[in-house]
Amino acid sequence: MTYKFTPLLLIFVAMNSFAQKTISITTKSNVLVLETDKDNNLLSTYIGKKLENTAEYPNIQPLDKYKPGSDDLLNKREAYIASGSLNLLEPSLSVTHGDGNKSTVLTFASVEEKQLDDNRKLTIVRLTDTKYKFDVALHYLAYFKEDVIEQWAEIKHNEKGTVVLNKYASANLTLSGRKFFLKNHYSGAVREMRSEEQQLLHGIKTIDSKLGTRTNLLHSSSFMVSIDQPATEDMGEVIAGSLEWTGNFKLDFETFDEYYLRITAGINNFSSNYTLKAGENFVTPRFVYTYSSSGKGLASRNLQNWARNYQLADGKGERLTILNNWETTYFDFNDEKLNELTKDTKKLGVDVFLLDDGWFGNKYPRNGATSGLGDWQYNKQKLKNGISSLGKEATANGVKFGIWLEPEMVNPKSELYENHPDWIIRQPERKEFYMRNQLVLDLTNPKVQDFIFKTVDDVFKEVPELAFIKWDCNSLIYNANSPTLKNQDHFYIEYIRGLNSVLEKIRKKYPKTPMMLCAGGGSRVDYAALKYFTEFWPSDNTNPFDRIFIQWEYSYYFPSIASDNHITDMGNQPIKFKTDVAMMGKLGYDVRVNELSKNDLLFSQNAVRTYNSFKDIVWHGQQYRLQDPYENKIASIAYVNDAKDQAVVFNYHVATLFTNGVILPIKLKGLDPTKKYKIEEINLYPGTKSPIDSTKVYSGDFLMKVGFNPEANSYRKSVVLKVTAL
Ligand code: DGJ
Repeated sequence: MTYKFTPLLLIFVAMNSFAQKTISITTKSNVLVLETDKDNNLLSTYIGKKLENTAEYPNIQPLDKYKPGSDDLLNKREAYIASGSLNLLEPSLSVTHGDGNKSTVLTFASVEEKQLDDNRKLTIVRLTDTKYKFDVALHYLAYFKEDVIEQWAEIKHNEKGTVVLNKYASANLTLSGRKFFLKNHYSGAVREMRSEEQQLLHGIKTIDSKLGTRTNLLHSSSFMVSIDQPATEDMGEVIAGSLEWTGNFKLDFETFDEYYLRITAGINNFSSNYTLKAGENFVTPRFVYTYSSSGKGLASRNLQNWARNYQLADGKGERLTILNNWETTYFDFNDEKLNELTKDTKKLGVDVFLLDDGWFGNKYPRNGATSGLGDWQYNKQKLKNGISSLGKEATANGVKFGIWLEPEMVNPKSELYENHPDWIIRQPERKEFYMRNQLVLDLTNPKVQDFIFKTVDDVFKEVPELAFIKWDCNSLIYNANSPTLKNQDHFYIEYIRGLNSVLEKIRKKYPKTPMMLCAGGGSRVDYAALKYFTEFWPSDNTNPFDRIFIQWEYSYYFPSIASDNHITDMGNQPIKFKTDVAMMGKLGYDVRVNELSKNDLLFSQNAVRTYNSFKDIVWHGQQYRLQDPYENKIASIAYVNDAKDQAVVFNYHVATLFTNGVILPIKLKGLDPTKKYKIEEINLYPGTKSPIDSTKVYSGDFLMKVGFNPEANSYRKSVVLKVTAL
């Protein structure tokens, strides 16, 4: 029989040889769909709720404007956008190849799926350039239960000579919708995490940092994007994302073709063209994100759960409560004073006495912020018996001992500056600029990395009882230049790699010691650093009124177990209000215990006990932001344990104008509708009575549909409720 080649058969053969491949990255509720097109490009066609029938994923249309031959800008919904050929919008990847050519066209090569355990699946999609021996492996690590994806790229080549990576983002996501709204955060010292939400109109909105260290001083690298309308706590589609990188970052939000938004997240390529040798692997940082079809609250809980289960150091563990001396003594102390403070720590009932800045420097004593930084020998005038005896004294007084370090920095007035000028970041021929009278050490230099590790290691050796470290970082990088690095274009990246390798080494040797991440307040709060740190210092602004807002905003991305909230002299509110605000996270103190009134002391001692009785719910439970402090007279936040039989609800009266009390009940969330609960007010100030009747019983259904009035008002500024199932 002769073979008859009909046109119909021809179509079939053509279709078959260009058969599309569909890859789905699936979590409990959501999916990210990738697909190859007829040119073998990898497109990302969908991110959203899972479909019932996975066989329908190939039916999702990619960009409707991709019509070759039309007058429209040709655009593909590529999963990782390279520049120099078809794409003329913001790329993820921009490369100068070994021969000087600047075009990259990535096509699908293979996909590999690895089920890492019950909950995590890694999908690696390998892309290769059509002309060059240049490869990109896109990594998608899906956390099923948490509905979270971590995405990053590994870039490699085998070209002749070196390749220069001009841009190398971790990921780009393309969203479709009618409108897009960005919630982002701008900051400054003592005004961290101010929030704004805006519609993304046409063009590119970029949020970035070029500060080197303290990279969140001006902007956070965490954000939310709502689709169609600004999502509320419980309604609307929203993506929450955060770049896991402690250095310069860049987030681009580009709207195009009316219905599309592309989010590109990665290291900031500012002044950082990266030269890649043949065979070398460039791994971008991870970009973590979650999609929620039920508002921002769920998106936050997804990230918080992911962080506690996988990212934050000891995320599922316990934490130590602290008495810190910074705001009570500043630089003015000696051993006697400090030994008294360890006794006060015990008296208060918290776990650790944390000695802050000012304990070191001899030739140039650290008696203020202008000298001594870098000279990590204890000051013999202030501490006659040394830090080792402080550790012993703390143990004898029944508490633990912690210490402050700022190992990445140096004061020009220090022995370190005199002895190691070549360890300092600066431009040799230019004027020095300082932030807080200090310069940054050159962590690109392995000798400096060794010095920093040794600084920490020596403190551990000197104080074997050391139980806590506060790691501060008060300057950003001016005059970015390493005296030893060959390629200054690698400076910003090598700094962070150097920092990470020191932290890695510290964690290897001291895996369990809790460490607080601080940068003159909250200028360094990112998920790459939080892999090494158990907690962070949100802000030097401890005014409890401001703190309600600051802690509220951090909670969009970070779990409360990581948020160090201290009661200090800042703010003229009563200690009860300060304590209730600090309890919404990791409680701590910076107060002169010996100057507290009898009742304030009694209240605080009881408060620590009360906190210990419910801290597990705040640290490990699910958080529900019930009423926001911007729009309501009462801000309200609840934490519910996983069994849904216990909850703590924090309520703060935040109205600044006189009001006639609150009449509307607050609807609780996250309870079991079928369970019966009683509600009691806790953490009362001595001598006060609660108007709340703790004998009444409510169903979860009632509390979530009708709500409960905490009776917070201008006379009862803060109210903490304990909800317990019967
Ligand atoms: C800045 C930090 O934010 C403060 O908490 C304190 O540790 C000071 N540095 C010490 O210099």
